[in-house]
Amino acid sequence: MLGNFTYCNPTRLYFGKGAVENLKSELANYGPNVVLVYGGGSIKKNGIYDTVVKILKECGKNITEDGGVMPNPTTEKLNEGARIARESKADLLLAVGGGSVCDYSKAVSVSAYCNEDPWEKYFIRFEEPSCKTIPVGCVLTMVGTGSEMNGGSVITNPAQKLKIGHVFGPEIFPKFSVLDPVYTFTLPKYQMVAGIYDIMCHILEQYLSGDDDNTGDYIAEGLMRSLVHSSLVAVKDPLDYEARSNIMWTATWALNTLIAQGKATDWEVHMLGQAVGAHTDATHGMTLAAVSMAYYRTILPYGTHRFARLAENVWGVDPAGKTPLAVAEEGLAAMLDWMKKLGLVLHLSELGVKDDMFEGLADSTAINEGGYKKLTREEVINIFKQSM
Ligand code: NZQ
Ligand code: ZN
Repeated sequence: MLGNFTYCNPTRLYFGKGAVENLKSELANYGPNVVLVYGGGSIKKNGIYDTVVKILKECGKNITEDGGVMPNPTTEKLNEGARIARESKADLLLAVGGGSVCDYSKAVSVSAYCNEDPWEKYFIRFEEPSCKTIPVGCVLTMVGTGSEMNGGSVITNPAQKLKIGHVFGPEIFPKFSVLDPVYTFTLPKYQMVAGIYDIMCHILEQYLSGDDDNTGDYIAEGLMRSLVHSSLVAVKDPLDYEARSNIMWTATWALNTLIAQGKATDWEVHMLGQAVGAHTDATHGMTLAAVSMAYYRTILPYGTHRFARLAENVWGVDPAGKTPLAVAEEGLAAMLDWMKKLGLVLHLSELGVKDDMFEGLADSTAINEGGYKKLTREEVINIFKQSM
């Protein structure tokens, strides 16, 4: 049964070629002090930095830069960003980058005026902000996380070997996001396919849970079919605008809270992948790709009916004359075949995981209850072993 929910997604999106021009009208809504948040420098190479700075100057903004946000942003960087935002009296945090830059900006938003340790408050105790927060806007350059239209913020504490996401409420969603598919054309193929798998995984985390008849699951199937089609085009021709724009739009809908409304969700692949990220600093989408098959095979006997539906409706498996288990397994095989065609990392050993790390990885893995099987610690360790 569809559970009760309140739905609000306040992010205004500007989508398409040249969408950055809309920044001008958006910027008029905020005061003069803008912190320009970005990553390791890709935006300086591909010209996006110059375009955005020109617009900020034309709009008469005082620009303070907060660059060097790393993939898997850390607590140390967060504390630095909070100080920069506070000292510059930021009226707007403009995140120009991928999920890491956008997630980090949301974390800075709630931390700049927080008088406690933000890591403890938001990422260990999962409390909501009780201080003044700073609006976030986003110019997206990497597709996958959905951070452009959600309240998710994932921060890594390297000392504690923990990578944890807090899903903030609508007041922390980006106020606006600029989505120009052309801005993603300079992504290295490794990042493009990691992002594509992140999208698939987000949809599956919400789809592989619950037994009820839920509209969100039908939407999820459509999103997955679009993604499979467009990803196979994009991997052959990364400059195919139609494919790249569909992937960008699918990523947003995969995790902008819509398809999860009123239903149970799992998120265990993310718990396993985030543990790997905390120990290795590997690319998010690849950590998910490497652990997925072992996880799905572990839970398949408990959710066979749903895996069979997935096989039929997304992977095109013909169920005639087959048991649900056979259909489900054929679907997983088709999914693995797709993952290979994309060139995803399928072995944890390629991400820096060593045989003596399994206990530590298990210590860093949160165990969720929303999926078809609540994992035991032994199962967690076995999944990591089988993913090598
Ligand atoms: O740092 P720069 O130099 O910009 O390079 C980045 C980075 O190295 C590069 N890149 C981005 N746009 C580019 C580009 N290179 C060339 N051309 C461009 N146009 O790509 C690399 C990866 O960027 P990153 O932002 O780290 O990737 P992604 O968007 O996958 O974000 C990953 C982070 O988001 C979190 C992940 O855990 C991870 O920390 N997630 C956030 C979620 C959310 N907010 O809801 C959900 C996700 O499940 C995920 O956990
Ligand atoms: Zn993800």
